[in-house]
Amino acid sequence: MNAPLFITGTDTDVGKTVLTVLLVRVLRELDLQPIAVKPVSAGDRADVRLLALAAGRRASLDELNPFHFRSPLAPLLAARQEGRPSRRTAVLAFLRKKIRGSAGRPVLIEGAGGLLTPLGEGFSARELIADLRAIPIVVAVNKLGVINQVRLVLAALPPAALRRTLVILMSTASPDLASRTNIVLLKEFFFPDRIYPLPRLRSKTGPAQAALSPRLRASLIQLLAAAGISSARRIRPIAKPGRQIAPARSAAAPS
Ligand SMILES: Nc1ncnc2c1ncn2[C@@H]1O[C@H](COP(=O)(O)OP(=O)(O)OP(=O)(O)O)[C@@H](O)[C@H]1O
Ligand SMILES: [Mg+2]
Repeated sequence: MNAPLFITGTDTDVGKTVLTVLLVRVLRELDLQPIAVKPVSAGDRADVRLLALAAGRRASLDELNPFHFRSPLAPLLAARQEGRPSRRTAVLAFLRKKIRGSAGRPVLIEGAGGLLTPLGEGFSARELIADLRAIPIVVAVNKLGVINQVRLVLAALPPAALRRTLVILMSTASPDLASRTNIVLLKEFFFPDRIYPLPRLRSKTGPAQAALSPRLRASLIQLLAAAGISSARRIRPIAKPGRQIAPARSAAAPS
Protein backbone atom coordinates (compact mmCIF):
# COMPACT_ATOMS: atom_id res chain seq x y z
CA MET A 1 0.00 0.00 0.00
CA ASN A 2 1.27 3.49 -0.88
CA ALA A 3 2.01 5.84 2.00
CA PRO A 4 -0.37 8.81 2.01
CA LEU A 5 0.90 12.07 0.57
CA PHE A 6 0.64 14.91 3.09
CA ILE A 7 0.58 18.26 1.34
CA THR A 8 1.91 20.87 3.72
CA GLY A 9 3.83 24.08 3.18
CA THR A 10 5.89 26.96 4.41
CA ASP A 11 2.78 29.07 5.01
CA THR A 12 -0.87 29.53 4.21
CA ASP A 13 -1.71 30.61 0.64
CA VAL A 14 1.33 28.99 -0.96
CA GLY A 15 -0.49 26.68 -3.39
CA LYS A 16 -1.25 23.51 -1.37
CA THR A 17 -4.78 23.26 -2.76
CA VAL A 18 -3.64 24.04 -6.29
CA LEU A 19 -1.04 21.28 -6.12
CA THR A 20 -3.42 18.77 -4.51
CA VAL A 21 -6.07 19.42 -7.15
CA LEU A 22 -3.55 19.06 -9.97
CA LEU A 23 -2.25 15.79 -8.54
CA VAL A 24 -5.80 14.47 -8.22
CA ARG A 25 -6.46 15.33 -11.86
CA VAL A 26 -3.32 13.61 -13.11
CA LEU A 27 -3.97 10.56 -10.94
CA ARG A 28 -7.47 10.30 -12.39
CA GLU A 29 -6.02 10.51 -15.90
CA LEU A 30 -3.83 7.56 -14.90
CA ASP A 31 -6.99 5.77 -13.74
CA LEU A 32 -5.80 5.64 -10.15
CA GLN A 33 -8.93 7.26 -8.61
CA PRO A 34 -7.31 9.07 -5.69
CA ILE A 35 -8.90 10.10 -2.42
CA ALA A 36 -8.21 13.70 -1.38
CA VAL A 37 -9.18 15.10 1.99
CA LYS A 38 -8.54 18.19 4.07
CA PRO A 39 -9.26 16.88 7.56
CA VAL A 40 -9.05 20.19 9.42
CA SER A 41 -10.04 23.62 8.10
CA ALA A 42 -10.98 27.02 9.44
CA GLY A 43 -12.76 29.79 7.57
CA ASP A 44 -14.47 29.09 4.28
CA ARG A 45 -14.45 25.65 2.69
CA ALA A 46 -13.44 26.69 -0.82
CA ASP A 47 -10.48 24.29 -0.68
CA VAL A 48 -12.70 21.35 0.16
CA ARG A 49 -15.10 22.21 -2.66
CA LEU A 50 -12.18 22.26 -5.09
CA LEU A 51 -10.92 18.89 -3.87
CA ALA A 52 -14.41 17.42 -4.29
CA LEU A 53 -14.74 18.92 -7.78
CA ALA A 54 -11.36 17.58 -8.87
CA ALA A 55 -12.09 14.11 -7.51
CA GLY A 56 -15.38 14.08 -9.42
CA ARG A 57 -17.02 11.93 -6.81
CA ARG A 58 -20.11 12.74 -4.84
CA ALA A 59 -19.03 13.33 -1.29
CA SER A 60 -20.33 15.74 1.28
CA LEU A 61 -17.97 18.41 2.52
CA ASP A 62 -18.09 16.79 5.96
CA GLU A 63 -16.88 13.49 4.51
CA LEU A 64 -13.77 15.21 3.17
CA ASN A 65 -13.39 17.75 5.95
CA PRO A 66 -14.95 16.58 9.19
CA PHE A 67 -13.13 19.08 11.43
CA HIS A 68 -14.31 22.46 10.16
CA PHE A 69 -14.44 25.68 12.16
CA ARG A 70 -16.04 28.91 11.02
CA SER A 71 -13.54 31.60 12.02
CA PRO A 72 -10.65 32.24 9.61
CA LEU A 73 -7.98 31.59 12.25
CA ALA A 74 -5.43 28.93 13.06
CA PRO A 75 -7.71 25.87 13.43
CA LEU A 76 -6.87 25.41 17.12
CA LEU A 77 -7.93 28.99 17.90
CA ALA A 78 -11.07 28.72 15.77
CA ALA A 79 -11.93 25.44 17.50
CA ARG A 80 -11.43 26.91 20.96
CA GLN A 81 -13.77 29.77 20.03
CA GLU A 82 -16.41 27.19 19.23
CA GLY A 83 -15.62 25.24 22.37
CA ARG A 84 -14.87 22.00 20.53
CA PRO A 85 -11.12 21.51 20.04
CA SER A 86 -10.21 18.66 17.72
CA ARG A 87 -8.24 15.82 19.22
CA ARG A 88 -5.27 14.19 17.52
CA THR A 89 -6.76 10.75 18.08
CA ALA A 90 -10.00 11.75 16.35
CA VAL A 91 -8.24 13.29 13.34
CA LEU A 92 -5.97 10.25 13.09
CA ALA A 93 -8.91 7.88 13.32
CA PHE A 94 -10.58 9.70 10.41
CA LEU A 95 -7.42 9.58 8.29
CA ARG A 96 -6.65 5.94 9.08
CA LYS A 97 -10.18 4.97 8.10
CA LYS A 98 -9.74 6.77 4.76
CA ILE A 99 -6.40 5.03 4.20
CA ARG A 100 -7.81 1.61 5.09
CA GLY A 101 -10.82 2.20 2.83
CA SER A 102 -8.68 3.35 -0.08
CA ALA A 103 -7.84 -0.22 -1.11
CA GLY A 104 -4.44 0.88 -2.38
CA ARG A 105 -5.65 3.98 -4.21
CA PRO A 106 -3.49 7.08 -3.57
CA VAL A 107 -4.56 9.14 -0.55
CA LEU A 108 -3.78 12.86 -0.55
CA ILE A 109 -4.13 14.86 2.65
CA GLU A 110 -4.05 18.66 2.54
CA GLY A 111 -2.92 20.32 5.75
CA ALA A 112 -4.06 23.75 6.90
CA GLY A 113 -1.61 26.64 6.98
CA GLY A 114 2.02 25.61 7.35
CA LEU A 115 3.75 22.61 8.91
CA LEU A 116 3.54 23.88 12.50
CA THR A 117 0.14 25.59 12.34
CA PRO A 118 -1.72 24.26 15.40
CA LEU A 119 -4.47 22.05 14.03
CA GLY A 120 -5.83 20.93 17.39
CA GLU A 121 -4.75 20.44 20.99
CA GLY A 122 -1.09 19.43 20.94
CA PHE A 123 -0.65 18.65 17.27
CA SER A 124 0.10 20.11 13.88
CA ALA A 125 0.76 18.58 10.47
CA ARG A 126 4.18 17.48 11.74
CA GLU A 127 2.67 15.06 14.27
CA LEU A 128 0.15 13.69 11.75
CA ILE A 129 2.94 13.09 9.22
CA ALA A 130 4.91 11.16 11.84
CA ASP A 131 1.88 9.18 13.05
CA LEU A 132 0.85 8.17 9.52
CA ARG A 133 4.39 7.72 8.16
CA ALA A 134 3.16 9.95 5.35
CA ILE A 135 5.21 11.41 2.51
CA PRO A 136 5.53 15.13 3.25
CA ILE A 137 5.13 17.41 0.25
CA VAL A 138 6.33 20.87 1.23
CA VAL A 139 4.88 23.62 -0.97
CA ALA A 140 6.64 26.99 -1.04
CA VAL A 141 6.39 30.07 -3.24
CA ASN A 142 9.50 30.48 -5.36
CA LYS A 143 10.41 34.04 -4.42
CA LEU A 144 13.12 35.84 -2.48
CA GLY A 145 13.22 34.31 1.03
CA VAL A 146 12.06 30.83 0.07
CA ILE A 147 15.39 29.18 0.86
CA ASN A 148 15.10 30.22 4.50
CA GLN A 149 11.42 29.20 4.63
CA VAL A 150 12.05 25.77 3.15
CA ARG A 151 15.06 25.12 5.40
CA LEU A 152 13.00 26.01 8.47
CA VAL A 153 10.30 23.53 7.47
CA LEU A 154 12.84 20.82 6.67
CA ALA A 155 14.48 21.37 10.06
CA ALA A 156 11.11 20.98 11.76
CA LEU A 157 10.04 17.80 9.94
CA PRO A 158 10.38 14.47 11.74
CA PRO A 159 13.93 13.32 10.82
CA ALA A 160 12.61 9.92 9.74
CA ALA A 161 10.39 11.62 7.16
CA LEU A 162 13.14 13.70 5.54
CA ARG A 163 14.27 11.14 2.97
CA ARG A 164 10.67 10.78 1.81
CA THR A 165 10.04 14.53 1.62
CA LEU A 166 9.46 16.38 -1.64
CA VAL A 167 9.77 20.15 -1.97
CA ILE A 168 7.65 22.01 -4.52
CA LEU A 169 8.62 25.49 -5.60
CA MET A 170 5.52 27.19 -6.98
CA SER A 171 6.29 29.66 -9.72
CA THR A 172 5.05 33.20 -9.21
CA ALA A 173 3.21 35.27 -11.79
CA SER A 174 6.31 37.44 -12.26
CA PRO A 175 9.50 35.39 -12.02
CA ASP A 176 12.58 37.43 -11.11
CA LEU A 177 16.28 36.85 -10.53
CA ALA A 178 15.65 35.19 -7.14
CA SER A 179 13.03 32.79 -8.50
CA ARG A 180 15.31 31.80 -11.36
CA THR A 181 18.24 31.01 -9.05
CA ASN A 182 16.75 29.83 -5.72
CA ILE A 183 16.68 26.19 -6.73
CA VAL A 184 20.40 26.04 -7.41
CA LEU A 185 21.25 27.07 -3.86
CA LEU A 186 18.43 25.07 -2.28
CA LYS A 187 19.89 21.93 -3.83
CA GLU A 188 22.99 22.44 -1.69
CA PHE A 189 20.84 21.99 1.41
CA PHE A 190 18.53 19.12 0.50
CA PHE A 191 18.35 16.07 -1.74
CA PRO A 192 18.60 17.70 -5.17
CA ASP A 193 16.39 15.09 -6.83
CA ARG A 194 13.56 15.84 -4.41
CA ILE A 195 13.09 19.52 -5.23
CA TYR A 196 10.59 20.29 -7.98
CA PRO A 197 9.77 23.64 -9.53
CA LEU A 198 6.19 23.73 -10.79
CA PRO A 199 5.19 25.90 -13.72
CA ARG A 200 2.34 28.31 -13.06
CA LEU A 201 -1.19 27.73 -14.29
CA ARG A 202 -1.92 30.17 -17.05
CA SER A 203 -5.68 29.90 -17.02
CA LYS A 204 -7.92 31.97 -14.79
CA THR A 205 -10.45 29.13 -14.50
CA GLY A 206 -8.83 27.61 -11.41
CA PRO A 207 -6.87 24.40 -10.89
CA ALA A 208 -9.83 22.02 -11.20
CA GLN A 209 -10.65 23.14 -14.73
CA ALA A 210 -7.55 24.79 -16.18
CA ALA A 211 -5.98 23.13 -19.18
CA LEU A 212 -2.75 21.39 -18.16
CA SER A 213 0.21 22.21 -20.36
CA PRO A 214 2.34 19.21 -21.39
CA ARG A 215 5.17 20.64 -19.31
CA LEU A 216 3.01 20.91 -16.20
CA ARG A 217 1.58 17.41 -16.69
CA ALA A 218 5.09 16.01 -17.12
CA SER A 219 6.22 17.72 -13.91
CA LEU A 220 3.27 16.30 -11.98
CA ILE A 221 3.89 12.78 -13.26
CA GLN A 222 7.54 12.99 -12.25
CA LEU A 223 6.52 14.23 -8.84
CA LEU A 224 4.11 11.33 -8.36
CA ALA A 225 6.77 8.86 -9.41
CA ALA A 226 9.19 10.40 -6.91
CA ALA A 227 6.48 10.02 -4.27
CA GLY A 228 6.41 6.30 -5.01
CA ILE A 229 3.12 6.15 -6.91
CA SER A 230 4.24 3.18 -8.90
CA SER A 231 1.90 3.48 -11.87
CA ALA A 232 3.12 7.02 -12.49
CA ARG A 233 6.65 5.63 -12.92
CA ARG A 234 5.55 3.72 -15.99
CA ILE A 235 4.07 6.77 -17.68
CA ARG A 236 6.32 8.46 -20.15
CA PRO A 237 5.94 12.23 -19.71
CA ILE A 238 4.44 13.87 -22.79
CA ALA A 239 6.91 16.74 -22.85
CA LYS A 240 10.60 16.77 -22.15
CA PRO A 241 10.75 18.16 -18.64
CA GLY A 242 14.48 18.88 -18.82
CA ARG A 243 14.42 22.53 -17.88
CA GLN A 244 11.81 22.18 -15.15
CA ILE A 245 12.87 19.04 -13.37
CA ALA A 246 16.29 18.39 -12.03
CA PRO A 247 17.82 15.15 -13.26
CA ALA A 248 18.02 12.56 -10.50
CA ARG A 249 21.38 12.78 -8.81
CA SER A 250 22.81 11.14 -5.77
CA ALA A 251 21.32 12.59 -2.63
CA ALA A 252 23.21 15.20 -0.70
CA ALA A 253 23.00 15.06 3.05
CA PRO A 254 20.33 17.43 4.27
CA SER A 255 21.66 20.16 6.51
N1 LIG B 1 0.82 27.08 -9.66
C1 LIG B 1 -0.09 28.06 -9.53
N2 LIG B 1 -0.63 28.63 -10.62
C2 LIG B 1 -1.56 29.61 -10.52
N3 LIG B 1 -2.02 30.09 -9.35
C3 LIG B 1 -1.52 29.57 -8.23
C4 LIG B 1 -0.55 28.53 -8.25
N4 LIG B 1 -0.24 28.22 -6.98
C5 LIG B 1 -0.99 29.02 -6.21
N5 LIG B 1 -1.77 29.83 -6.96
C6 LIG B 1 -2.73 30.82 -6.44
O1 LIG B 1 -2.31 31.22 -5.14
C7 LIG B 1 -3.41 31.31 -4.25
C8 LIG B 1 -3.21 30.38 -3.08
O2 LIG B 1 -3.22 29.03 -3.52
P1 LIG B 1 -3.88 27.88 -2.65
O3 LIG B 1 -5.29 28.22 -2.30
O4 LIG B 1 -3.63 26.62 -3.37
O5 LIG B 1 -2.99 28.00 -1.34
P2 LIG B 1 -3.05 27.09 -0.02
O6 LIG B 1 -1.66 26.89 0.41
O7 LIG B 1 -3.88 25.90 -0.29
O8 LIG B 1 -3.81 28.05 1.00
P3 LIG B 1 -4.56 27.64 2.37
O9 LIG B 1 -3.54 27.77 3.44
O10 LIG B 1 -5.64 28.69 2.47
O11 LIG B 1 -5.11 26.27 2.23
C9 LIG B 1 -4.67 30.96 -5.06
O12 LIG B 1 -5.28 32.15 -5.49
C10 LIG B 1 -4.12 30.17 -6.23
O13 LIG B 1 -4.94 30.26 -7.35
MG1 LIG C 1 -5.60 25.25 0.62
